[in-house]
Amino acid sequence: VSVKDQLMENLIKEESPPGNKVSIIGADAVGMACAISILIRSLADFRFLNCTWLYLPELRISTGETWDFPSIVQYSPNCIMVIVSNPVDVLTYVAWKLSGFNTYCIIGSGCDLDTTRVRLLIGERMGIHGSSCHGWVLGEHGDSSVPVWTEVNIAGASLKNFNLDIGTSKDMEQWGYLHKKVVTSASDVIRLKGYTSWAVGLSVADLTGTIMKNLKKVCSVSTMIKIYSSPLLHPESHFLLQ
Ligand code: 2OP
Repeated sequence: VSVKDQLMENLIKEESPPGNKVSIIGADAVGMACAISILIRSLADFRFLNCTWLYLPELRISTGETWDFPSIVQYSPNCIMVIVSNPVDVLTYVAWKLSGFNTYCIIGSGCDLDTTRVRLLIGERMGIHGSSCHGWVLGEHGDSSVPVWTEVNIAGASLKNFNLDIGTSKDMEQWGYLHKKVVTSASDVIRLKGYTSWAVGLSVADLTGTIMKNLKKVCSVSTMIKIYSSPLLHPESHFLLQ
């Protein structure tokens, strides 16, 4: 059995290519941050932002009323839904149950943002650009997310080879602190301004681009895993190849 077949064994295959329309349900701070982040990447047109044409004239924008959940299912039966509201993993499951959609059509923003945050912090500590620091935060988004220290590497050089205890309670360098900082950074922002919005907006725009352009990137999101037979993809792994 090939490497590819083994690695892809548990991934759910998509059935139809996505279109180019994005609807945002909920025009609060997070919804607006998602909208603007998606707009500036020129990924889609929107129905809500009827004054943005002045600044982003190349985009076709029309106004429309806010939709509720049953309407999404009714009017966009073939959409891919990205759930962003917290608790995002629970609500992704609820959305899947309520919508009756195929599992691969419902994705939660999950630990995509946590993964980005920890990579940035690793980069800061190492003095290397975060995009060159590879690692994953998996599991439930937020306090109980799981940083996978054994897999952290820079250009293929595993940090565990230099520090066997990395991320554990025995770790003299306390790399685990970076993950604590990831968790507290969100609550710090919430304490200071009442909510987080821009980071998750940019994460959602990235996920949206990945889906719409079918980039086949690997992202840490909330998704349903088919079976758990492979040691590579245990139940806590929330990967999606979209
Ligand atoms: C965030 O991580 C609170 O889920 C929000 O920014």
